[in-house]
Amino acid sequence: MQYKKLGNSELRVSTIALGTWGLGGGSVWSDRDSTAAEAARLLDACKEQGINYIDTAPVYGTGASEELLGAALAGRRHDFILQTKCSLNWRGEGGNFHYSRDGYTVNNDTRPEAIRRDVEDSLRRMKTDYLDSVIVHYVCKSFPVAETVGALEELIRQGKIRAYGLSNSQPTDLNEYQSAPEKKQGVSVVQEFFSILSPFHGRDYFPVCEKYNTTFQTYGVLEEGFLTGPAFLERKFAKTDIRSRIPWVEEQYHDGLRRAFEAWTPLCREKNCSFAQLVEAWALAQHPNMSLLVGMRKPENVADTVRCLTLSLSPAELAAMEETVKPIQVKVLDK
Ligand SMILES: NC(=O)c1ccc[n+]([C@@H]2O[C@H](COP(=O)([O-])OP(=O)(O)OC[C@H]3O[C@@H](n4cnc5c(N)ncnc54)[C@H](OP(=O)(O)O)[C@@H]3O)[C@@H](O)[C@H]2O)c1
Repeated sequence: MQYKKLGNSELRVSTIALGTWGLGGGSVWSDRDSTAAEAARLLDACKEQGINYIDTAPVYGTGASEELLGAALAGRRHDFILQTKCSLNWRGEGGNFHYSRDGYTVNNDTRPEAIRRDVEDSLRRMKTDYLDSVIVHYVCKSFPVAETVGALEELIRQGKIRAYGLSNSQPTDLNEYQSAPEKKQGVSVVQEFFSILSPFHGRDYFPVCEKYNTTFQTYGVLEEGFLTGPAFLERKFAKTDIRSRIPWVEEQYHDGLRRAFEAWTPLCREKNCSFAQLVEAWALAQHPNMSLLVGMRKPENVADTVRCLTLSLSPAELAAMEETVKPIQVKVLDK
């Protein structure tokens, strides 16, 4: 495993991070609900492979992902760098309407009191007294950024969190957070969608991350499974499932995706790797300070994923890989 500092923080994180949106199950990852024993086995696999960086969020399964992690972390909390999120809550205390699902109304609220309550709720659900990193899940223009920064910096001073970050944001948001008078440690990580099918947002972001020494963390590098191989295109998902709501579920993209898998097959044979490992290695090659966040519920996928770190792709191979998907690349993904 490779390890890097997370932005300007003192945290030393594995280059591959475990994403646990799927662990939350429910109507959004509707094919399976995970158990506490499965969550524990997932962390065992991470430990075995050297993955110490775990990402979750209050809204993943409306508390379920955090609670499963809390149980799985018992007795080994200090072995992991635990990252969760703030701003999206279902407490009904105001903020902007974000979505309604499964009987819960989720609002986006980046005001200081909401951030503090989010952190307390996450600490309780995960049975811990500190969070390593907390990411503003959806940056929000309605409330003053300086106050949000003030609240996050205060949580660092209190020892409740060690670093903070932004998500679903723009490079201008990072500039604004970094320019707030309350900023001390600043933004350590931005977590943004990035894959070979949607690389533009990341590319706009990379120079701004470099300017502030902020880690760029990908999400959706496998496009929720659609980049794992042609068999995935045959799968059917419930209407509420995230995988029924991203572009790749539509027939119009399937020919393009099948052509890409066909074009990548000789490279996979030559490198003795899977499509998943190939597109992960492609992503890692795009930016030097990248954290590769991969959603995994199956322990065997953890061992499989880490092999992407051993692949070496030449500039010509990287360019050729992207060339095949250029006709179907999309600019914006909102998950
Ligand atoms: N900030 C945000 O708004 C935001 C949005 C989306 C995601 N995220 C975070 O980013 C993480 C990653 O994104 P994601 O989970 O949506 O999508 P993803 O990482 O693109 O894809 C996850 C899917 O790929 C499968 N997979 C993983 N490794 C595999 C392997 N080696 N072989 C075959 N299949 C493999 C997983 O299967 P199994 O589940 O069956 O193991 C899962 O179904 C999330 O879990 C979450 O922590 C953040």
